[in-house]
Amino acid sequence: MNLRIIVVLAVLAGVTGSPTTRPEAESADVSAHPNSVPETVEEKEIFGQQKVLAEEEAVMATGELNPSHYPAQRAAKVVQHYLNTRYGSPYRLFGLQRVLSGNAEDVADSGRKYQLEISVQEIIGNTTGNVSAEVLFPRGEQQRSAQVRASCEELLKINTKAQEETLYQQYKTNQSLLSAQNLPDSYGHIEPDMKPFWHLGIVASSFVMLNESTENTLYNMAQVANITQLATENDQLKFDCHILLHEMVSQEIIHWKLLFTWSPPEGVKVLQMEQLPHCHECEKTPNTN
Ligand SMILES: *[C@@H]1O[C@H](CO)[C@@H](O)[C@H](O)[C@H]1NC(C)=O
Ligand SMILES: *[C@@H]1O[C@H](CO)[C@@H](O)[C@H](O)[C@H]1NC(C)=O
Ligand SMILES: *[C@@H]1O[C@H](CO)[C@@H](O)[C@H](O)[C@H]1NC(C)=O
Ligand SMILES: *[C@@H]1O[C@H](CO)[C@@H](O)[C@H](O)[C@H]1NC(C)=O
Ligand SMILES: *[C@@H]1O[C@H](CO)[C@@H](O)[C@H](O)[C@H]1NC(C)=O
Repeated sequence: MNLRIIVVLAVLAGVTGSPTTRPEAESADVSAHPNSVPETVEEKEIFGQQKVLAEEEAVMATGELNPSHYPAQRAAKVVQHYLNTRYGSPYRLFGLQRVLSGNAEDVADSGRKYQLEISVQEIIGNTTGNVSAEVLFPRGEQQRSAQVRASCEELLKINTKAQEETLYQQYKTNQSLLSAQNLPDSYGHIEPDMKPFWHLGIVASSFVMLNESTENTLYNMAQVANITQLATENDQLKFDCHILLHEMVSQEIIHWKLLFTWSPPEGVKVLQMEQLPHCHECEKTPNTN
């Protein structure tokens, strides 16, 4: 509990700007601190409410939830990752805007179920809609991923097919394969023609964040350290990608290596995900896999 308050304050200290900053994934917020990572607008909104967060109770909340407290926020974040895995693309990204209401209950033997009404923003097209969602965190010896049910028709209205097809053709037919580092860089900058790959990295990361999330985590995408396009025989684009996730509760930066494919009809498919060792020394030695 005390630790949580410190964490929240530490995050606040690293966050500049007002909670009403332009809601754009690219409006990465970067301070001079070497460990600082860009935060998207959602965190600013969550951590703008530090007073209520600090009053959070230690036991798992049950019944009606305070929409701005951690339990509701953490479950709602899982819905964001789920929507990205299902509908995300280089031109379609979802961000949690606000929890409108939430309810949590124990489900005999199987886990804990959250029922949520949340406001979600499709960040690139800038549309907002309300989403009803259900998140079940399974209980049991072996850790299983949260199960999510959510629908967001309203947010799928903007047609991104043409842009996706253009990007796909550009990188499918190019003789040289894409390779990029540090999206965004330490100044929070991303070259315009690399933004679709930052978005693809976020969508691919959402598969990891969805799979790894529990009631006690709050994951955010921090950076695509590097992304490399691989040659393929089939009609998918294939990428090898090294990503940095920020777990807000523990304040850890977690490295993952992903292999994923993308094409407009098939969307993003993650073929492999592997968490990389934590320490800086390990990162310097070549990874043998
Ligand atoms: C997004 O849409 C809202 C409401 O329509 C508008 O107020 C806001 O300025 C838009 N943001 C951007 C970045 O275009
Ligand atoms: C979302 O729900 C809130 C609270 O119920 C409501 O005020 C708002 O108008 C809704 N937004 C949309 C786009 O339906
Ligand atoms: C092909 O790739 C090269 C190197 O990445 C890049 O400079 C060039 O603009 C690309 N061509 C097209 C049509 O995208
Ligand atoms: C998701 O995580 C579980 C362990 O929690 C792991 O067994 C499973 O392979 C993961 N899924 C993917 C697609 O990697
Ligand atoms: C990708 O970035 C990670 C983290 O900075 C680094 O350890 C790794 O060597 C990089 N890989 C490539 C192929 O550049």
